[in-house]
Amino acid sequence: MSKLTPAQQAARRRTFAIISHPDAGKTTLTEHLLLAGGSIRAAGQVRARGENRRTRSDWMKIERERGISVSSSVMTFEKDGLVFNLLDTPGHEDFSEDTYRTLTAADAAIMVLDAAKGIEPQTLKLFEVCRLRDIPIVTFINKMDREAQDPMELLDEIASKLQLDPAPLYWPAGSGGRFRGMLNLQTGAFQPYAKLVGGQAAEGEGHPEALPLAQADAHFQDGEKAELEEQAELIQGGYPAFERQSFLEGHMTPVLFGSALRHFGVDELLAAIGENAPPPKPLTAEKAGETETVEPGAREVTGFVFKVQANMDPNHRDRIAMLRLSSGEFKRGMKLKVQNTGRQLSVNAPITFFASDRELAEEAFAGDVIGIPNHGVLRVGDSLSESGLIRFAGLPNFAPEILQRVRVKDPLKAKHLKKALEGLAEEGVTQLFRPELGSDFIVGAVGQLQFEVMADRLANEYALECVFEPSPYAEARWVAGERADLEDFASKHKTAMARDIDDAPVFLSKSAWETGYIADRYPKVTFTKTRERM
Ligand code: G4P
Repeated sequence: MSKLTPAQQAARRRTFAIISHPDAGKTTLTEHLLLAGGSIRAAGQVRARGENRRTRSDWMKIERERGISVSSSVMTFEKDGLVFNLLDTPGHEDFSEDTYRTLTAADAAIMVLDAAKGIEPQTLKLFEVCRLRDIPIVTFINKMDREAQDPMELLDEIASKLQLDPAPLYWPAGSGGRFRGMLNLQTGAFQPYAKLVGGQAAEGEGHPEALPLAQADAHFQDGEKAELEEQAELIQGGYPAFERQSFLEGHMTPVLFGSALRHFGVDELLAAIGENAPPPKPLTAEKAGETETVEPGAREVTGFVFKVQANMDPNHRDRIAMLRLSSGEFKRGMKLKVQNTGRQLSVNAPITFFASDRELAEEAFAGDVIGIPNHGVLRVGDSLSESGLIRFAGLPNFAPEILQRVRVKDPLKAKHLKKALEGLAEEGVTQLFRPELGSDFIVGAVGQLQFEVMADRLANEYALECVFEPSPYAEARWVAGERADLEDFASKHKTAMARDIDDAPVFLSKSAWETGYIADRYPKVTFTKTRERM
């Protein structure tokens, strides 16, 4: 094969994430997508890898105990000339900010629904995050091998709860014990379902070949085929046909049915992603004060850090910054500059993440994610490029929903605590506020679980026994305005003023009511719930 240009390389990338409510089957589907992509050979490897990692890492005890996945990573595989980058998102709702950031690095998402449950609370939350960014969504209705809700009701639920036009690409024949397979609504071919034992399914070869519906009588019992034909007609009359443009704009979702566990519908899902999900888009950036569009095929290597992960390898204290490339042809050993600090970095040991392993990345293109080991130089939201001049729109910091005071049991270790808290805040998982008065630290998080993870990490990674206690504060708001107005405001509310990790001023209020009251009294000061990291 002659060498592809960066533009051609970008065009064959599909970078996507899976969103779902816990237990809908995200892990199982991930595994079977990797099987479908030919990058693992037996089911069970993803989970086994996860467990392996967990036993090696102490702080992940919490994950194990609660059966949730807190950390996230990337899995890359190649199939039919396309490169798929699957970004794993944490499943627990307390980590929604983290999930949000991961989704900023995805160009599409698969929404997995449990066919018996439909849209669940966490599906809805994650969907809203996708909508904020207009990420196109492919819907996979999973667990058809079990008793399912009426598929038409499921489509109606998608339409009414998500305001998204569902366009079924396939239609299922029955479910549970009466699940017979699915009809390709575009070609009229019928894909029969065979009840399989795990091993066969893992090979992906266990289901009979697809065939024209007219020849598929042997796969149905009394009246079932007529019922499918009738439904297919209703569906084709009642729902709009799939339109790629509408999908790309975030208005329409193609719907597929299947069973991740039985490896049914998974190849079709991967094909639908390959065919319809978008390659990396041009991004708007700022270069030396001017707005610029960065094309994926542009010569200069650019990208942004969407996540910083500590402790992936517990033998090292390294942090790994996940860099999503936006353009260019990255080569190992290349020098990249951080836009906001001007620091230059030789990227000698970038990591790519294959299903079963991690390897050094020799090259990477727009859409790819590489892990850059570093000691705190790289932060979430950083823009990297060869010139150091490109700045992508920042990733937002969200105002935390819970604010707690943290205290180290041994007062002699207060200094250590400061460093440890800053380190954790730099990963972007929790936020740190330093009140202008007093010596306490206030830690903000989206959910209670994050404090538990944090206490565990402070103990295991930094040997600091800490307690989190309620703080008098309910909300944090970033404040901005003319210098004189800000100073006037801050001087009158000294006890409520704090600084975030980037030294930006923050007002800590005791209640939502107080926030509103104060904001009304100081119309020249703006109070915001999010702040874009520069
Ligand atoms: P999650 O990552 O979204 O939380 O879900 P996960 O894949 O862990 O799946 C949750 C449970 O649902 C698992 O069962 C899994 O085997 C099952 N499951 C996933 N996809 C399907 C499917 O297509 N059909 C059926 N029948 N079940 C499915 P578990 O009993 O909790 O775990 P395990 O002991 O089987 O691993």
